[in-house]
Amino acid sequence: MSEEIIVPKGLANVVVDTTSIATTGASGNLLYRGYRAVELAEKKSFEEVAYLIINGRLPTQNELTPFKNELNSNMVIDESVLKIMNMVKEKNLMRSIRSMISLYPYKMNDDQSTFTQMEAKMPLLTSYSASSINGTPIKTPKGVDFSQKFYSLITDRENKNWKSFEKLMILYLEHEFNASTFALRVAASTLTDPVSAVTAALATLKGPLHGGANSEVLTYLSGIENEKDAMKFVEGKLEKKEKIMGFGHRVYKKRDPRALFVREELRKIAPTDQKFVAAEMVENYMFEKKGLPANVDLYAAVLMDYLGINEMFYLPVFACSRIFGWNAHYFEQLSNNKIIRPASQYIGEEEREL
Ligand code: SDX
Repeated sequence: MSEEIIVPKGLANVVVDTTSIATTGASGNLLYRGYRAVELAEKKSFEEVAYLIINGRLPTQNELTPFKNELNSNMVIDESVLKIMNMVKEKNLMRSIRSMISLYPYKMNDDQSTFTQMEAKMPLLTSYSASSINGTPIKTPKGVDFSQKFYSLITDRENKNWKSFEKLMILYLEHEFNASTFALRVAASTLTDPVSAVTAALATLKGPLHGGANSEVLTYLSGIENEKDAMKFVEGKLEKKEKIMGFGHRVYKKRDPRALFVREELRKIAPTDQKFVAAEMVENYMFEKKGLPANVDLYAAVLMDYLGINEMFYLPVFACSRIFGWNAHYFEQLSNNKIIRPASQYIGEEEREL
């Protein structure tokens, strides 16, 4: 047996494989296939960046058009599925989406077309599940672009700043070997199918330490009117050794470039929004007191709240974007595969007679 290597708990800072899709890099800038993600968010459409993540290069117009058409033509839900959905009746939206994505009757052509079908259906499954949970009428997507159609499925009102939502979707697309992506790669390494691998990733993303508890972010921000409130809140949580959602990161120890980008986007479109002002106060105090940066979820929650998106959709928004990153990782894992099966240090009973 080759010698075993003991590594830190949670695989912290352990390099387990190579990837060419993204890196939070030495520069501290999140790079998607070498381009700065925040620059892509500013200058490109969601579909262009999704294509880049999956294919490794930005699309020509001749490549972008069929890519968009493929997504659009799959953004429909068969009647038969609605019947299944009414049987699932989950109260929790992420559990419902996780079940729906597994149950859906895809046209099984090849793995990439299965991913395209899942990517196109996720926003609909999200919206339809919410309608069934809330007993509200089913929405039909409006608009032409992917994120515009998705936005129309999860809000009841137009907001002229919907492009800020598209920028957030771009920043959620991919983030190297985070927990849910790694769960997908473990599944892919066994040669399971794309639907099963995405189900494993969704189940992992649902955990609050990874997917964040954005509703908690909004709750605590709404109770903060001034610096004193911010300090009292942070001190209280730290004293009780409780984690504050929207802060800390395994990789970003100084700053999460996505959080800074969304913060500045909010400063442009909603500088006096109470939750934005409160978030900055908490961010400043958390960094001063505990040296912990805000992660993307802090300002993502504030932006989506400002855009009229209900907090039940925050994690599904993350998932409906990240599935394109999972798409890229599924094929990258298969391109140079070895089943992922680590060792363990046994600390149980010595061998004994029955
Ligand atoms: C994302 O991995 C990714 O790439 C994730 C993500 C992606 O795009 O996929 O970037 C998505 O970043 C959203 C993360 C959403 N989760 C939260 O906001 C939940 C709160 N955050 C934490 O649970 C935590 O920060 C983690 C899980 C994100 C990171 O945990 P680590 O790297 O294991 O760090 P740790 O738990 O060892 O904490 C180190 C210290 C500890 O203090 P001490 O015990 O050393 O005194 O920092 C403290 C922790 O208690 N700490 C926090 C804290 N996060 C860490 N203290 C208060 N509040 C927090 N949020």
